[in-house]
Amino acid sequence: MAESDPQSLVLPSLVTMGHPGLARPAAPVPEHLVGTRDFDQRLDLLIQSMVAYEGIGIAAPQVGWFERFFLMVAEAPADPSTAPEGEEDAGPPQELVAWINPRIVEASEEWCWAWEGCLSVPGLRGWIRRPAAVAVQGLNPRGEPVSMEYRGWNARVFQHEYDHLEGMLYPYRAAHPHHLVMTGELERREEWPDGWPATGARDTPPGELFFEG
Ligand code: NI
Repeated sequence: MAESDPQSLVLPSLVTMGHPGLARPAAPVPEHLVGTRDFDQRLDLLIQSMVAYEGIGIAAPQVGWFERFFLMVAEAPADPSTAPEGEEDAGPPQELVAWINPRIVEASEEWCWAWEGCLSVPGLRGWIRRPAAVAVQGLNPRGEPVSMEYRGWNARVFQHEYDHLEGMLYPYRAAHPHHLVMTGELERREEWPDGWPATGARDTPPGELFFEG
């Protein structure tokens, strides 16, 4: 993932909800292509797109590449030995993770709710329920098999991005149409009545999870 020459950088456009390519399963990446210069260049272009479009994850279909790979910004496990003193409030360190031909091999019986947004659905947010933890497998950019267990926010982001590879957008998962709100309305949620549009929704800021019960 070398730095691109900004002179030659032309970012692919975002594909948004309604495009048929976002509503059907994407094709597996041929394994022999993973790790090649061409594929690395496309990964790099996807990274640049995620940064430019200000996402915390992006799936290849969102830039019109209907193939099974995505990027996610994951919270890395904190390493207290390297944490600079006095920066405890900076939040956990983050790392950019690429998943190629990923799959979910197990999902927890515990579920949780969160506000989700998507670069392919600008202006909208949704109160969405998903398993709280998932065990996943896939390939890294070198073509090596990787297994991982994600909990919390990482599990949420992985499942959202994985959904893109399956032709699923988060609004399709809304349990009730009222759970879809415009971004500006969500920002005014302190004016909402208690329980609108669902239990826990008003008092759960974007980026946090709400556990039932
Ligand atoms: Ni998305």
